[in-house]
Parts: sequence; structure tokens; C-alpha cells
Amino acid sequence: MIRGEAFRITILLAAIGALAALVFGEIESAGRHSAWTASELALLRSLSIDSLPPVPPEPSNALADDRRAAKLGQQLFFDPRLSGNGQVACATCHQPGRRFTDGLPKARAIGTARRNTPSIVGQAYSPWLYWDGRKDSLWSQALAPLEDPAEHGGNRMAYVRFIATDPEYRASYEQVFGRLPDLHDERRFPPAAGPLPDPALRASWLAMNPRDRRTVNEVFANIGKAIGAYERRLLPGPSRFDAYVQAVVDGDQARQREALAPAEVAGLRLFIGRAQCIQCHNGPLLTNNEFHNTGIISYPGDLPDRGRYDGLRQVDEDPFNCLGPYSDATTDDCSELRFARRGPELIGAVRTPSLRNLQGTAPYMHKGQLPTLADVIEHYVTAPEAMIGHNEAKPLGLSRTERDQLEAFLRTLSAPVAMPAVGESAP
Ligand code: HEC
Ligand code: HEC
Repeated sequence: MIRGEAFRITILLAAIGALAALVFGEIESAGRHSAWTASELALLRSLSIDSLPPVPPEPSNALADDRRAAKLGQQLFFDPRLSGNGQVACATCHQPGRRFTDGLPKARAIGTARRNTPSIVGQAYSPWLYWDGRKDSLWSQALAPLEDPAEHGGNRMAYVRFIATDPEYRASYEQVFGRLPDLHDERRFPPAAGPLPDPALRASWLAMNPRDRRTVNEVFANIGKAIGAYERRLLPGPSRFDAYVQAVVDGDQARQREALAPAEVAGLRLFIGRAQCIQCHNGPLLTNNEFHNTGIISYPGDLPDRGRYDGLRQVDEDPFNCLGPYSDATTDDCSELRFARRGPELIGAVRTPSLRNLQGTAPYMHKGQLPTLADVIEHYVTAPEAMIGHNEAKPLGLSRTERDQLEAFLRTLSAPVAMPAVGESAP
């Protein structure tokens, strides 16, 4: 099943439930289910973490669920030797203590990145990675920062050499992926090379035999596949909101009061009702995994971001996409990519983020334009004209109290990351 489709079906089922309740007369179940109607209760359940299906399969990565691959991936994720200057790891920007973000408007390592660092938690459920969806799997995403001059600033030939020469990595890699190629001949495999903007690295790469380039790409892709296997395990844990939904389902008033304060419940009502947040932030991760233009102003000094419009072109051209030679998938497995939504409405659209990763992840939005959750709600209340494309969100008439309630509700979605340990070196 297509991943986005699984979500759409979840939502559809919730909608059918809601409709059935309407047809049979809005059952006001005050005693049993607090003051929620049956249709509202169906919606609440669709948002609960208990509705989260198992992590969807990733056919493009044959080792996505291999424990040894995940363990190797975890080591690589935290290892600064995987960088041009020996100082940058994935965890430099994706810090476990900050829900795998960095607290900056735009990420910084060797240079400044183009956008805000998103959390990785729960991303295995998304068919698209990055704010503009220019990657279609966790493993292929992991390759990009390694060669980005502003991020890890290295090159693929050096990474492949590093894995082959470090005795520990060499052993774990060969256990998981099989034998590493023989890289001793430096005329065939130079110390540094990659299809990068740097003219010297690029020239060395282009001078290599295409078969040797492919050999290097295979190992490079496997580095991504190990990291992806680790990232798949980072999932959101149950929050106070989820405890509340369960208490409503059980008709247990005392547990409902324990889980959420009245202002938070009022915020939840606004979220699924008048404030229309649920239109895009739906399903158990509070995201439809789709791309929308919500009229966020551009970052000071930046041109407006064209978002998904450019992201689609990039994912189509990516040799590490689902349909490419380094993918383990069949063409049939790549429906998301083959049938991706296209069109001019995607100008300025970015991916709807999950709202389960709001705690400790400020500032918000794709370039960290909004410092606080109160600013985010203020933005939705005014719904300004988009600087590029068209803002899909409508202005909201919310009083000061209602804005505070909505914010209070958003905070109830936070919970510690659930991270099944994969080895002794768990952070
Ligand atoms: C310099 C800081 C930095 C480093 C280092 C870095 N990232 Fe990121 N990461 C970012 C930024 C910024 C984005 C969003 C960029 C965009 O959307 O254009 C991102 C996006 C992602 C995403 C997509 C999340 C989503 O919501 O779509 C994943 C997954 C990810 N990074 C994993 C990694 C891995 C794995 C590594 C190491 C190989 C890594 N990152 C290294 C800053 C960093
Ligand atoms: C039309 C779809 C849509 C609607 C409706 C919508 N959102 Fe969003 N939301 C998005 C998108 C897309 C983003 C990312 C925008 C960006 O970065 O430019 C976002 C970002 C956010 C963020 C920031 C998350 C982060 O990690 O940076 C929060 C918080 C949020 N929305 C809450 C809400 C609330 C509360 C409502 C209801 C008042 C709402 N949204 C309505 C699509 C929507």
C-alpha cells in the first residue's frame, strides 16, 4: 500500500464514522464520553497515537528493518569523522536532547544551511523528506547532507574509503552488506572525488571509469541505508492528549480531568472545529504528509522559497530515488514517486510538519521564521497574502483566550521520543 494512501484511508474511515454518527443523529453522550459527540469522538480517535499503524515497509531499502544495519546506522549518525573537517555529525544538527533539532532558525555546521532543521522523529511514515520533499526515502535523504558543503562538507569517495579502512566499520559493514570493493588502486579510486560543485573533486569523479563510479555509489548508498534503518526506529511516544482520548473512549471522567485541563480541552475543540487545523494536521502524527502554501513570509534577505515546485524536479532527477539503480524496489513499489501530485499550486508549498515534535523544537516553520507557538497561531489568525503562490489557509476570528487555548492544546501533544535501543552505544 502506498504510504500516503494508508493515511488517506485512516482519515476516510474517520470521516465515514463521523458521517454515520450524523446520519444516526448526533448522539450527545455527555455521561459516557464527556461532552463529545460520536462524530467528534471518531475524529479524536483518528488523531490518537493508538491509531498509528506499524511503520510502513520501505522496499527501496532491503535492510530497512535489519537490526545490525540500524546499529551501524546509529554509530554513523553520531560520528563526526563522517565529515570534511572531522567535526560534523548528523547529531550536530539533529540533537537527541532537542528532539533531533538544533534550536536555530537555519541550521549551521560548516556553513549555514538553507532551511530550518526538522525533527526526524516519526519521519519513517512520510513518503517525502525535506520541507520541499526533494527526497523520497530516509536512506537517500541521508546522502545529501554528507556532501553538502554547508553541512558535513565531505565527498563520497572519501566516505567510502573511511568505511573501508576503519577496522570496526569495515567489519560491521561487511556483516550487513557483504564484501567491500578493493580500493587500493588510487588511479582507479582517488582519495577524494564526487559529483560536487567543487571543480577538483568533480574532475576526479568524472575521470573515473563509470563502472568504478557505480561501485562507489553502491557503498555510498549503503551508508545511507544503514542510517535510514536507524532513523526508522525514532518514533513519538504517547502524550497527555493520547491519554485523554483513551479516557474519553473509556468514559472515565477522572482520568480525562487528570490528562487535560479545561483550557486544553477547549483548545482541542478549536483545533478540530472552528480553527480548521485538522484540515492539514490530521491522522495520528497530525500531518497529512502533503504540501501546502500557508503564506509564511520569507526569511529576511531571502527570495520566497518555491518549495515543492522545485522539490519535485529534484526528486525526479535524483539517481538515488526509488526508481534509480541503487534502490531495492521494483517499479510497482514506487507509486508515490510515479504518481506524485504536480501542478502550479505547489509553488511556495512545503510539507505539513507533524505536531508531535513541537516541544523544544522552536523556532518554527521551514526557515524558522516564527520564534514561538504563539507567533504560529497569530500567523494563522491573520493568514496574510502569500509572497509567492497562494495562501490556502483562511483568516480565523479567534479571541485572545481562544488563541491561548489552542496553544495550550498544542503543548499536550508532546511526549518523550520512543527509541528502541539497537546497541550498547544508544545515546
Ligand atoms: C548543518 C545541519 C545538518 C546536518 C549536519 C544534518 N542535517 Fe538533516 N536536516 C537539516 C536541515 C536544515 C534540514 C531541512 C532542509 C530542507 O528541508 O531543505 C534537514 C532535513 C533532514 C531530514 C528530513 C526531515 C523532514 O522532516 O523531512 C532528515 C531525515 C535528516 N535531515 C537526516 C539527517 C541525517 C541522516 C544527517 C547525517 C547524514 C543529517 N540530517 C545531517 C540540517 C542538518
Ligand atoms: C492548509 C494546510 C494547513 C492548515 C489549515 C494548518 N496548517 Fe499548520 N502547517 C502547515 C504547513 C504546510 C506548515 C509548514 C509551513 C512552513 O514552514 O512554511 C505548517 C506548520 C505549522 C506549525 C509549525 C510546526 C513546526 O515544526 O515548524 C504549527 C505549530 C502549526 N502548523 C499549527 C497549526 C495550527 C494550530 C493550525 C490551525 C489554526 C494549522 N497549523 C493549520 C499546514 C497547515
